Amino acid sequence: MNEQPLVVSGVSKYFGGGFSARRLLPWKGRDGAGRREPVQVLRDVSFDVRRREIYGVIGANGSGKSTLIRILSTLLLPDAGQVRAFGLDVVQDAGAVRALINRVSADPSFFRNMSALENLLFFGRVYGLSPGDIRRKLPDILARLGFEFEKAREPMSHLSRGQQQKIAVARSFLTAPVLMLLDEPTTGLDPRSKRDVQAFIRRVQLEHDATIVLTTHDMAEAEELCDRIAFIAGGRIVAEGTPLALRQRVADGRPVEGIDMEDVFMELTGRSIQEDEVPAEVMASG
Ligand SMILES: Nc1ncnc2c1ncn2[C@@H]1O[C@H](COP(=O)(O)OP(=O)(O)OP(=O)(O)O)[C@@H](O)[C@H]1O
Ligand SMILES: [Mg+2]
Repeated sequence: MNEQPLVVSGVSKYFGGGFSARRLLPWKGRDGAGRREPVQVLRDVSFDVRRREIYGVIGANGSGKSTLIRILSTLLLPDAGQVRAFGLDVVQDAGAVRALINRVSADPSFFRNMSALENLLFFGRVYGLSPGDIRRKLPDILARLGFEFEKAREPMSHLSRGQQQKIAVARSFLTAPVLMLLDEPTTGLDPRSKRDVQAFIRRVQLEHDATIVLTTHDMAEAEELCDRIAFIAGGRIVAEGTPLALRQRVADGRPVEGIDMEDVFMELTGRSIQEDEVPAEVMASG
C-alpha cells in the first residue's frame, strides 16, 4: 500500500433543508414557505495526511470536526468533494475503506448490560478476530491505557465515562487498523487518564505504523501529539501546519516559544476555541 493514507479534496456538507412541521410558524432559518434552509457545515475542506503522521483537527464546538470525521469514516456522504483513503474512494469503495480504518467517537456505543470484556470480545469478533486473539491482546492494551483488567469484568453501565472512553480506545486498537480516526479521544478524561491515552496513541503510531487523525479542543494535547494541525472554524480549514509553523505565522518578531497556542488559534481563526460556533447563515437570517 504505497498510496497516501488520506487525501481530502474540496469536501462540503450541508444539513437540513426540506419542509418542517413548523412551517406555519415564523422560525429562524426558514424561508417564507416554511422550508428550512440548509446550513453549510463543511466548506471546501482539503488536506492530506501522510503515512505515520498524527494530524490534528482543532476547532470550537460546532465547527464541523465530528461531521468531517464521519465523512472520512464512511458514515456520512459528502455533498461535494472527494475523500480517498489509501487510494480508495470513501463513497465508491466504502466497504474496502472500512477494513482499513477505525473510528473512536466521543460517545461510543456499547451493550450497556454486558461487561467491558464481553463487549470487547463481541466487537473483536465482528472485526474478524478470534476470542483467543482478543484475550491474548487485551491485557497489554488495557494495561497501557491504565485500565485495571478486573474492572473489565463489570458491566459497561458501572464504568465511569472516562473508563468507558478507554474501553472505546481499546476496542478500536484491537484490530490495529492502519488509519485511526479519533474524535476527541480524551475529552472528559481526568489529567492522568488523558496522559495514559495520549501515551498510548503515541506508542501505537510508533510501533504499528499507524496514521492517526485526531480532533480535540485541547491545545496542549494537539501540540504534544500532532505532527501537523489544522484549525477549523465555521466548517472551513483556516490554517494548517506544524505547531511551530503555526506559531511562526503569528510571531511577528516575537520569540515563538513564548506564544500560547490558544492565542495562535485566536489570531488565525478570529475567534476563541471556547466560543460556540454559530453558522454564518443562521446569524444572518436570525
Ligand atoms: N445530523 C445533523 N443534522 C443537522 N445538523 C447537524 C447534524 N450533525 C451536525 N450538525 C450541525 O453541524 C455543525 C457541526 O457539528 P459537528 O458535530 O461536526 O461539530 P464539532 O466540531 O464536532 O463540535 P463538538 O466540538 O461540539 O463536538 C453544528 O452546527 C451541528 O449542529
Ligand atoms: Mg464533535
